[in-house]
Amino acid sequence: MQIEKLLETHSQQHLLRYLEGWNQTERKTFERQLLSIDWSVLDSLQVSEPDPTGEVNPIEGLSLRQIETQKQTYIETGKAAVKDGKVAAVLLAGGQGTRLGTSSPKGTYNIGVTRPLYIFEQLIANLKKVCAQCRANVPLLIMTSEKNDGETRAFFEEHDYFGYPKDYVRFFVQEMAPCVDAAGKLLVEGRGKLATSPNGNGGWYQSLQKAGLLEEKLLANTEWFNVFAVDNVLQRIADPAFVGATILSGKKCGAKFVRKTRPEEKVGVLCLKDGLPGVIEYYELSEELANLKNSAGELIYSYGVTLNYLFHAQTLAKIAAQKIPVHTAKKKIPYLTEEGKSVEPQEANGYKFETLILDLVRLMGSCLPYEVVREKEFAPVKNKTGIDSVETARELLTKNGIVL
Ligand code: UTP
Repeated sequence: MQIEKLLETHSQQHLLRYLEGWNQTERKTFERQLLSIDWSVLDSLQVSEPDPTGEVNPIEGLSLRQIETQKQTYIETGKAAVKDGKVAAVLLAGGQGTRLGTSSPKGTYNIGVTRPLYIFEQLIANLKKVCAQCRANVPLLIMTSEKNDGETRAFFEEHDYFGYPKDYVRFFVQEMAPCVDAAGKLLVEGRGKLATSPNGNGGWYQSLQKAGLLEEKLLANTEWFNVFAVDNVLQRIADPAFVGATILSGKKCGAKFVRKTRPEEKVGVLCLKDGLPGVIEYYELSEELANLKNSAGELIYSYGVTLNYLFHAQTLAKIAAQKIPVHTAKKKIPYLTEEGKSVEPQEANGYKFETLILDLVRLMGSCLPYEVVREKEFAPVKNKTGIDSVETARELLTKNGIVL
């Protein structure tokens, strides 16, 4: 009865027809799932227009040249912070890696050529370099999703954490969000199971909180979280210079950026939106703004985000209760018909709901954009071939002296 009322309230009575054909156990699991989902995400479907961008202005950041003049001071400040356990690293590994086309966790992908070199392995190698430089171990918090948690943990175990001290590693699982069809009706994935997908990378802090990790001794001294994507195999993690520059700036967040090479490059850009720092997605940036140049002929909106951020822990705790906007993405979502037939759609047939980490930047209130050299620190593995792919990442790793 409770379920019927719930489904009626949210105009989802079509699900009752599925329930009729299922056994007791399937009905029970399904009902439990229905009672635990975050229904409020469905409201974002009613918003027909994307969030109005507001007034966009350039944001001031640190250029490579400026960083160079203060490098030693930044490094010393950052090294001291890492050594005192003030920096924890958060690896976002809950995504589905659909563009790469693998059903396994993206971090388990082998990018080696003559030897195996897994994405996770390369990230750990990057982190180990910083640990050696600072003579300290950095707590590493790995966010997974329900879909890949078991496989990710097993992979780290199997490879002995690639030599990283296991005591410094924790896993936590992000939330899932329901998927709907084009008419906003919840989709069913299989008998007794709603179709769901990871709820985006914007909720990592809430998931960390829910997992009870913030109370652990390991994070007792944490003042900064360095949050980064799984797929940039060249990035420096807990980078002392970046940490030092952000601390000394007095800002509540830092964002590593690469200078855009051309106006049409598909990368989110750091800017001020209505006076607050934020990221404007490439498809939201007008052609006029994308092409705007300063007197030296350089693009003004050129700070391309690399998804490597520093967040001030105390500020995060303060804003944790605030709602992050939910974005909808049209995707191909496999589903079960009421007649019990499984369908693998060839075209996008529904929506997934995601919160995005770039929206957190705005909530933090202040941000230091920090430039890094693209060829040395930005090799995202998004696709198998072409732009931002296994191929381009291999080329860049080789250029940086890593034997593949
Ligand atoms: P992407 O937006 O590139 O998504 O994630 P993805 O899932 O890896 O790849 P596609 O779009 O399906 O091809 C950027 C980072 O955020 C993480 C990803 O693992 C990646 O490190 N992420 C994304 C999560 O941790 N959870 C999510 O729900 C989504």
